[in-house]
Amino acid sequence: MRVAVTGANGLIGAEAVAHLLGRHEVLALGRGPCRLPPGPYAWAEVDLGDGRSLEQALLGFRAEAVLHAGAATDVDGCERDPDLAWRVNVGGTEQAARACRALSARLVALSTDYVFDGEAGPSDEEAVPNPRGAYARTKRCGEEAALLLAPDAAVARVAVVYGGGPGAKATFATQVVEKLSRGEPVKAFSDQQVTTTLASAGAERCLELLLETDYRGVLHVSDAEVVGRVEFARAVADRFGLAGEIIPVLTASVRLPAPRPLRGGLVVARATRLLRHRPLSLAEALDRFHAEWQARGGRS
Ligand SMILES: NC(=O)c1ccc[n+]([C@@H]2O[C@H](COP(=O)([O-])OP(=O)(O)OC[C@H]3O[C@@H](n4cnc5c(N)ncnc54)[C@H](OP(=O)(O)O)[C@@H]3O)[C@@H](O)[C@H]2O)c1
Repeated sequence: MRVAVTGANGLIGAEAVAHLLGRHEVLALGRGPCRLPPGPYAWAEVDLGDGRSLEQALLGFRAEAVLHAGAATDVDGCERDPDLAWRVNVGGTEQAARACRALSARLVALSTDYVFDGEAGPSDEEAVPNPRGAYARTKRCGEEAALLLAPDAAVARVAVVYGGGPGAKATFATQVVEKLSRGEPVKAFSDQQVTTTLASAGAERCLELLLETDYRGVLHVSDAEVVGRVEFARAVADRFGLAGEIIPVLTASVRLPAPRPLRGGLVVARATRLLRHRPLSLAEALDRFHAEWQARGGRS
Protein backbone atom coordinates (compact mmCIF):
# COMPACT_ATOMS: atom_id res chain seq x y z
CA MET A 1 0.00 0.00 0.00
CA ARG A 2 1.17 3.60 -0.62
CA VAL A 3 1.32 5.20 2.84
CA ALA A 4 2.29 8.83 3.48
CA VAL A 5 3.45 10.20 6.85
CA THR A 6 3.58 13.93 7.56
CA GLY A 7 5.74 15.36 10.35
CA ALA A 8 8.18 12.58 9.50
CA ASN A 9 11.09 14.27 11.30
CA GLY A 10 8.96 14.48 14.45
CA LEU A 11 8.56 12.18 17.43
CA ILE A 12 5.55 10.18 16.21
CA GLY A 13 6.16 10.62 12.46
CA ALA A 14 9.72 9.24 12.61
CA GLU A 15 8.59 6.19 14.56
CA ALA A 16 5.75 5.64 12.11
CA VAL A 17 8.09 5.72 9.11
CA ALA A 18 10.45 3.24 10.81
CA HIS A 19 7.53 0.92 11.53
CA LEU A 20 6.24 1.03 7.94
CA LEU A 21 9.52 0.35 6.14
CA GLY A 22 9.64 -2.99 4.35
CA ARG A 23 5.89 -3.37 4.73
CA HIS A 24 4.57 -0.57 2.51
CA GLU A 25 5.64 1.98 -0.08
CA VAL A 26 6.36 5.03 2.08
CA LEU A 27 6.39 8.76 1.37
CA ALA A 28 7.82 10.66 4.34
CA LEU A 29 6.96 14.36 4.36
CA GLY A 30 8.62 16.97 6.52
CA ARG A 31 9.77 20.52 6.87
CA GLY A 32 13.21 21.02 5.32
CA PRO A 33 15.74 18.24 4.87
CA CYS A 34 15.20 14.68 6.01
CA ARG A 35 16.67 13.88 9.46
CA LEU A 36 15.70 10.19 9.39
CA PRO A 37 18.17 7.34 8.98
CA PRO A 38 18.50 6.28 5.34
CA GLY A 39 16.02 3.66 4.18
CA PRO A 40 13.63 2.58 1.44
CA TYR A 41 11.30 5.57 1.55
CA ALA A 42 10.84 8.69 -0.54
CA TRP A 43 11.18 12.14 1.07
CA ALA A 44 9.20 15.25 0.18
CA GLU A 45 9.74 18.69 1.67
CA VAL A 46 6.47 20.43 2.43
CA ASP A 47 5.36 23.48 4.37
CA LEU A 48 2.07 22.60 6.04
CA GLY A 49 1.29 26.28 6.31
CA ASP A 50 1.56 27.25 2.64
CA GLY A 51 -1.92 26.09 1.62
CA ARG A 52 -0.87 23.73 -1.17
CA SER A 53 2.45 21.80 -0.99
CA LEU A 54 1.13 18.95 1.16
CA GLU A 55 -1.98 18.42 -0.94
CA GLN A 56 0.10 18.39 -4.15
CA ALA A 57 2.65 15.94 -2.73
CA LEU A 58 -0.08 13.54 -1.55
CA LEU A 59 -1.87 13.71 -4.90
CA GLY A 60 1.42 13.17 -6.76
CA PHE A 61 2.18 10.09 -4.64
CA ARG A 62 -1.38 8.80 -5.10
CA ALA A 63 -1.49 8.04 -1.37
CA GLU A 64 -3.83 5.29 -0.25
CA ALA A 65 -3.42 6.06 3.44
CA VAL A 66 -2.11 9.16 5.24
CA LEU A 67 -0.88 9.49 8.82
CA HIS A 68 -0.96 13.22 9.47
CA ALA A 69 1.47 13.71 12.36
CA GLY A 70 2.89 17.09 11.31
CA ALA A 71 1.83 20.10 13.36
CA ALA A 72 3.03 23.26 15.03
CA THR A 73 3.51 21.65 18.46
CA ASP A 74 5.25 24.46 20.35
CA VAL A 75 2.32 25.41 22.59
CA ASP A 76 3.76 28.77 23.64
CA GLY A 77 5.03 29.49 20.12
CA CYS A 78 1.47 29.00 18.83
CA GLU A 79 0.21 31.44 21.45
CA ARG A 80 2.71 34.05 20.26
CA ASP A 81 1.89 33.45 16.57
CA PRO A 82 -1.74 32.28 16.23
CA ASP A 83 -1.72 33.05 12.51
CA LEU A 84 1.06 30.53 11.92
CA ALA A 85 -0.64 28.04 14.25
CA TRP A 86 -3.85 28.36 12.23
CA ARG A 87 -2.14 28.00 8.87
CA VAL A 88 -0.17 24.90 9.96
CA ASN A 89 -2.60 23.11 12.29
CA VAL A 90 -5.86 23.89 10.51
CA GLY A 91 -4.60 24.58 6.98
CA GLY A 92 -2.20 21.61 6.98
CA THR A 93 -4.91 19.22 8.15
CA GLU A 94 -7.32 20.69 5.62
CA GLN A 95 -4.82 19.96 2.84
CA ALA A 96 -4.38 16.37 4.04
CA ALA A 97 -8.14 15.89 4.22
CA ARG A 98 -8.81 17.38 0.77
CA ALA A 99 -6.15 15.16 -0.81
CA CYS A 100 -7.55 12.08 0.94
CA ARG A 101 -11.03 12.90 -0.28
CA ALA A 102 -9.81 13.32 -3.87
CA LEU A 103 -7.86 10.04 -3.67
CA SER A 104 -10.48 8.07 -1.67
CA ALA A 105 -7.63 7.51 0.78
CA ARG A 106 -7.90 6.82 4.50
CA LEU A 107 -6.71 9.54 6.88
CA VAL A 108 -5.65 9.46 10.51
CA ALA A 109 -4.93 12.94 11.87
CA LEU A 110 -3.12 13.28 15.20
CA SER A 111 -4.54 15.52 17.88
CA THR A 112 -4.18 16.24 21.57
CA ASP A 113 -5.77 16.10 25.01
CA TYR A 114 -5.33 19.90 25.01
CA VAL A 115 -8.66 20.10 23.16
CA PHE A 116 -10.12 19.72 26.67
CA ASP A 117 -9.95 22.50 29.23
CA GLY A 118 -8.41 20.34 31.92
CA GLU A 119 -11.09 21.06 34.48
CA ALA A 120 -12.23 17.45 34.89
CA GLY A 121 -9.91 15.06 33.03
CA PRO A 122 -9.05 12.41 32.15
CA SER A 123 -11.48 12.66 29.24
CA ASP A 124 -13.02 10.00 27.04
CA GLU A 125 -14.08 10.39 23.41
CA GLU A 126 -17.57 11.57 24.39
CA ALA A 127 -16.32 14.46 26.55
CA VAL A 128 -17.03 17.88 25.04
CA PRO A 129 -13.89 19.74 23.93
CA ASN A 130 -13.29 23.22 25.29
CA PRO A 131 -9.86 24.21 23.98
CA ARG A 132 -7.97 27.07 25.58
CA GLY A 133 -5.12 28.82 23.84
CA ALA A 134 -4.03 29.00 20.21
CA TYR A 135 -2.43 25.54 20.00
CA ALA A 136 -5.46 23.84 21.53
CA ARG A 137 -7.97 25.78 19.46
CA THR A 138 -6.17 25.21 16.17
CA LYS A 139 -5.77 21.51 16.91
CA ARG A 140 -9.49 21.28 17.64
CA CYS A 141 -10.31 23.02 14.34
CA GLY A 142 -7.90 20.65 12.58
CA GLU A 143 -9.91 17.73 14.00
CA GLU A 144 -13.07 19.12 12.44
CA ALA A 145 -11.31 19.73 9.12
CA ALA A 146 -10.21 16.09 9.01
CA LEU A 147 -13.58 14.65 10.01
CA LEU A 148 -15.63 17.00 7.86
CA LEU A 149 -13.61 16.99 4.64
CA ALA A 150 -12.31 13.41 4.44
CA PRO A 151 -15.01 10.74 4.24
CA ASP A 152 -12.74 8.02 5.66
CA ALA A 153 -11.00 9.74 8.58
CA ALA A 154 -10.18 9.18 12.21
CA VAL A 155 -8.65 11.59 14.70
CA ALA A 156 -6.13 9.99 17.06
CA ARG A 157 -5.59 12.02 20.23
CA VAL A 158 -2.34 11.55 22.13
CA ALA A 159 -0.86 13.36 25.13
CA VAL A 160 2.63 14.24 26.44
CA VAL A 161 4.63 12.46 23.75
CA TYR A 162 8.18 11.34 24.56
CA GLY A 163 10.79 9.03 23.12
CA GLY A 164 14.02 8.91 21.22
CA GLY A 165 17.58 8.63 22.38
CA PRO A 166 20.32 10.97 23.60
CA GLY A 167 20.37 14.24 21.67
CA ALA A 168 16.86 13.64 20.26
CA LYS A 169 14.23 16.34 20.33
CA ALA A 170 13.84 17.46 23.95
CA THR A 171 10.74 16.20 25.70
CA PHE A 172 9.91 16.25 29.38
CA ALA A 173 11.03 12.61 29.76
CA THR A 174 14.33 13.04 27.89
CA GLN A 175 15.05 16.18 29.92
CA VAL A 176 14.54 14.21 33.12
CA VAL A 177 17.07 11.62 31.95
CA GLU A 178 19.61 14.10 30.59
CA LYS A 179 19.47 16.60 33.46
CA LEU A 180 19.57 14.00 36.23
CA SER A 181 22.45 12.24 34.42
CA ARG A 182 24.39 15.53 34.58
CA GLY A 183 23.55 15.92 38.27
CA GLU A 184 21.17 18.84 37.60
CA PRO A 185 17.79 19.08 39.33
CA VAL A 186 14.57 18.77 37.32
CA LYS A 187 11.49 20.92 37.81
CA ALA A 188 8.09 19.25 37.37
CA PHE A 189 4.60 20.69 37.67
CA SER A 190 3.02 19.34 40.83
CA ASP A 191 -0.56 20.29 39.86
CA GLN A 192 -0.75 18.79 36.36
CA GLN A 193 -2.27 15.37 35.80
CA VAL A 194 -1.60 13.76 32.41
CA THR A 195 -1.50 10.59 30.40
CA THR A 196 1.71 10.10 28.46
CA THR A 197 2.55 8.56 25.09
CA LEU A 198 5.76 6.70 24.24
CA ALA A 199 6.21 7.78 20.61
CA SER A 200 6.99 4.33 19.20
CA ALA A 201 3.99 2.74 20.91
CA GLY A 202 1.69 5.61 19.98
CA ALA A 203 2.84 5.39 16.36
CA GLU A 204 2.03 1.66 16.27
CA ARG A 205 -1.48 2.31 17.53
CA CYS A 206 -2.01 5.13 15.03
CA LEU A 207 -0.84 2.92 12.16
CA GLU A 208 -3.04 0.06 13.26
CA LEU A 209 -5.97 2.48 13.37
CA LEU A 210 -5.02 3.73 9.89
CA LEU A 211 -4.29 0.47 8.12
CA GLU A 212 -6.14 -2.29 9.97
CA THR A 213 -9.43 -0.73 11.07
CA ASP A 214 -12.26 1.20 9.45
CA TYR A 215 -12.95 3.18 12.65
CA ARG A 216 -14.16 6.70 11.93
CA GLY A 217 -14.31 9.55 14.41
CA VAL A 218 -12.16 10.32 17.43
CA LEU A 219 -10.07 7.71 19.26
CA HIS A 220 -7.89 8.30 22.32
CA VAL A 221 -4.56 6.49 21.83
CA SER A 222 -2.17 7.73 24.52
CA ASP A 223 -0.71 5.23 26.97
CA ALA A 224 -3.07 4.11 29.68
CA GLU A 225 -2.04 5.48 33.05
CA VAL A 226 -3.05 8.82 34.54
CA VAL A 227 -0.11 10.30 36.46
CA GLY A 228 1.02 13.57 37.97
CA ARG A 229 4.04 15.11 36.29
CA VAL A 230 6.15 14.77 39.43
CA GLU A 231 5.18 11.11 39.69
CA PHE A 232 6.05 10.65 35.99
CA ALA A 233 9.46 12.29 36.47
CA ARG A 234 10.17 10.03 39.47
CA ALA A 235 9.11 6.94 37.51
CA VAL A 236 11.45 7.88 34.64
CA ALA A 237 14.32 8.52 37.08
CA ASP A 238 13.71 5.20 38.87
CA ARG A 239 13.60 3.22 35.63
CA PHE A 240 16.91 4.76 34.52
CA GLY A 241 18.46 4.27 37.98
CA LEU A 242 19.00 7.99 38.40
CA ALA A 243 19.05 9.68 41.76
CA GLY A 244 18.69 13.43 41.99
CA GLU A 245 16.35 16.20 42.87
CA ILE A 246 12.90 16.60 41.31
CA ILE A 247 11.52 19.98 42.34
CA PRO A 248 7.71 20.31 42.39
CA VAL A 249 6.51 23.59 40.87
CA LEU A 250 3.00 25.04 40.62
CA THR A 251 1.90 25.84 37.05
CA ALA A 252 0.70 29.32 38.06
CA SER A 253 4.14 30.16 39.46
CA VAL A 254 5.65 30.04 35.95
CA ARG A 255 4.61 32.75 33.51
CA LEU A 256 3.76 30.67 30.45
CA PRO A 257 2.20 32.41 27.42
CA ALA A 258 -0.35 29.62 26.80
CA PRO A 259 -2.74 28.09 29.34
CA ARG A 260 -2.09 24.50 30.44
CA PRO A 261 -4.82 21.97 31.32
CA LEU A 262 -4.33 20.88 34.93
CA ARG A 263 -6.61 17.84 35.08
CA GLY A 264 -5.73 16.54 31.62
CA GLY A 265 -5.16 13.10 30.20
CA LEU A 266 -7.14 10.69 28.06
CA VAL A 267 -9.32 7.69 28.87
CA VAL A 268 -8.19 4.96 26.48
CA ALA A 269 -10.73 2.21 27.21
CA ARG A 270 -12.06 2.30 23.64
CA ALA A 271 -8.61 1.90 22.07
CA THR A 272 -7.88 -0.91 24.53
CA ARG A 273 -10.95 -2.74 23.22
CA LEU A 274 -10.42 -1.90 19.56
CA LEU A 275 -6.70 -2.28 18.95
CA ARG A 276 -4.25 -5.18 19.05
CA HIS A 277 -1.53 -2.71 20.13
CA ARG A 278 -3.13 -1.80 23.44
CA PRO A 279 -2.22 1.34 25.41
CA LEU A 280 0.68 0.52 27.74
CA SER A 281 0.91 0.85 31.49
CA LEU A 282 3.51 3.37 32.67
CA ALA A 283 5.88 0.58 33.71
CA GLU A 284 5.58 -1.13 30.31
CA ALA A 285 6.14 2.14 28.46
CA LEU A 286 9.19 3.05 30.57
CA ASP A 287 10.73 -0.40 30.11
CA ARG A 288 10.43 0.10 26.38
CA PHE A 289 11.69 3.71 26.54
CA HIS A 290 14.74 2.52 28.52
CA ALA A 291 15.46 -0.23 25.97
CA GLU A 292 15.10 2.23 23.07
CA TRP A 293 17.34 4.75 24.84
CA GLN A 294 20.09 2.16 25.24
CA ALA A 295 19.68 0.89 21.68
CA ARG A 296 20.14 4.49 20.50
CA GLY A 297 23.41 4.94 22.34
CA GLY A 298 22.32 6.06 25.80
CA ARG A 299 24.34 4.94 28.81
CA SER A 300 21.77 4.78 31.61
N1 LIG B 1 4.50 16.31 21.51
C1 LIG B 1 3.48 16.19 22.35
O1 LIG B 1 3.64 16.17 23.58
C2 LIG B 1 2.07 16.07 21.82
C3 LIG B 1 1.02 15.97 22.74
C4 LIG B 1 -0.28 15.82 22.26
C5 LIG B 1 -0.51 15.76 20.90
N2 LIG B 1 0.52 15.87 20.03
C6 LIG B 1 0.21 15.81 18.59
O2 LIG B 1 0.83 14.66 18.05
C7 LIG B 1 1.19 14.91 16.69
C8 LIG B 1 2.63 14.54 16.47
O3 LIG B 1 3.46 15.46 17.19
P1 LIG B 1 4.88 15.02 17.76
O4 LIG B 1 4.70 14.68 19.18
O5 LIG B 1 5.50 14.01 16.84
O6 LIG B 1 5.61 16.42 17.71
P2 LIG B 1 6.85 16.94 16.87
O7 LIG B 1 8.02 16.06 17.18
O8 LIG B 1 6.94 18.40 17.14
O9 LIG B 1 6.43 16.67 15.37
C9 LIG B 1 5.74 17.60 14.58
C10 LIG B 1 6.42 17.65 13.23
O10 LIG B 1 5.73 18.61 12.41
C11 LIG B 1 6.69 19.33 11.70
N3 LIG B 1 6.24 20.65 11.29
C12 LIG B 1 6.00 21.73 12.08
N4 LIG B 1 5.63 22.78 11.33
C13 LIG B 1 5.66 22.36 10.05
C14 LIG B 1 5.41 23.00 8.81
N5 LIG B 1 5.02 24.28 8.72
N6 LIG B 1 5.54 22.28 7.67
C15 LIG B 1 5.92 20.99 7.73
N7 LIG B 1 6.18 20.32 8.86
C16 LIG B 1 6.05 21.02 10.01
C17 LIG B 1 7.87 19.46 12.64
O11 LIG B 1 9.03 19.75 11.89
P3 LIG B 1 10.46 19.98 12.61
O12 LIG B 1 10.89 18.60 13.03
O13 LIG B 1 11.28 20.56 11.53
O14 LIG B 1 10.19 20.88 13.77
C18 LIG B 1 7.88 18.10 13.31
O15 LIG B 1 8.72 17.19 12.63
C19 LIG B 1 0.83 16.37 16.41
O16 LIG B 1 -0.44 16.42 15.82
C20 LIG B 1 0.74 16.98 17.81
O17 LIG B 1 -0.11 18.10 17.83
C21 LIG B 1 1.81 15.99 20.46
